[in-house]
Amino acid sequence: MIKLHDKYFKPFVSAKEIDDALQRLVDEIAEDVGDEIPVFVGILNGSFMLTSDFVKKYPKTCEVTFIKLASYEGVKSSEDIQRLIGLTQDLTGRTVIILEDIIDTGNTLHEVHRIFRNEKVKSLKIATLFYKPEAYKKDFKLHYVGIEIPNKFIVGYGLDYDGLGRNLPEVYQIKETQHMTNLVLFGPPGAGKGTQAEFLKEKYNLVHISTGDVFRYNIKNETALGMLAKSYMDKGALVPDQVTIDMLNAEVEKNADAKGFIFDGFPRTNAQAEALDKLMDSKDSQINAMIALEVDDEVLVKRLLERGKTSGRADDADEEVIRNRIKVYYNETAILKDYFTAQEKYFGVDGVGSVEEITKRLSAVIDKL
Ligand code: IMP
Ligand code: MG
Repeated sequence: MIKLHDKYFKPFVSAKEIDDALQRLVDEIAEDVGDEIPVFVGILNGSFMLTSDFVKKYPKTCEVTFIKLASYEGVKSSEDIQRLIGLTQDLTGRTVIILEDIIDTGNTLHEVHRIFRNEKVKSLKIATLFYKPEAYKKDFKLHYVGIEIPNKFIVGYGLDYDGLGRNLPEVYQIKETQHMTNLVLFGPPGAGKGTQAEFLKEKYNLVHISTGDVFRYNIKNETALGMLAKSYMDKGALVPDQVTIDMLNAEVEKNADAKGFIFDGFPRTNAQAEALDKLMDSKDSQINAMIALEVDDEVLVKRLLERGKTSGRADDADEEVIRNRIKVYYNETAILKDYFTAQEKYFGVDGVGSVEEITKRLSAVIDKL
């Protein structure tokens, strides 16, 4: 993912795919042109990279020139008129092929036809690397089309967003959902996960999704997914990952304009981590970090025994039970630590200290994401 000005873009068309599409255009055009010496006309600025790569591939003699799209203030009111300038060469009798980076509404193409109206060219053909059929509103014929794309803004390979991105060798597509901070929060029992989740939620305006809470909510409210989950639980079976993911998906949908999510209690397996990645991907987003609060076992045992005295929670009263829960936690999360480490998304945070100290350490990690 890349950021240009205020917007985020994700990889869309690789350099290899662009190269293949260019090669197809070159082959098709070279074949049609035959023995003529064509004049390729690149439309600046966007077509500079494409034109250069195109003519390098062109197997026969050719000429290259450029015209440039310039904005003028309209005479009436403040309408913006785009005009093509720079056609100084006499093209009488020539085979002209326009090289466009992208055809969107077709307004530029309209301009092309306007300035060529009085040129007595032999033929005028249009080639474009990218074409957005859903946006195209004219009916000029497009003779050669490289890649058809949906009506979403792209950058790279000559195309810019407000001046930036032209230099990128591959093409990126705008992300519909803008940047979110999605965290997977981990910590052994007693690490202070709940306390810190509350704080992070407030500070970063995130939605806290605790799988336990989501399960209880769905079962209590007898949602279709809740009943489905319960049918497995009643049989003593594990709830399939897909059911859990569907519940999380519903939670994510409910909070469509959230700045991000804190996932708590999920994922627990590689398969779940992969499913969560897919879910985030379908939202045009991603998990940014797995943050694990690290607390020494002995400190945890002491904390939990303390808590047991006041809370009356049975599972906090017995040292053996506590030690076992901690062991289970490490067994479970070791795989996930590897999973997120491989993506450079694992962050261990020292969970010993005052609540404020720990929130400071967590914020330091999140602010750098
Ligand atoms: P049209 O005149 O609407 O067909 O659009 C053509 C021009 O608009 C291109 O030459 C680009 O400069 C710009 N444009 C259209 N779509 C995009 C895009 O997705 N990214 C960057 N520039 C674009
Ligand atoms: Mg252009």
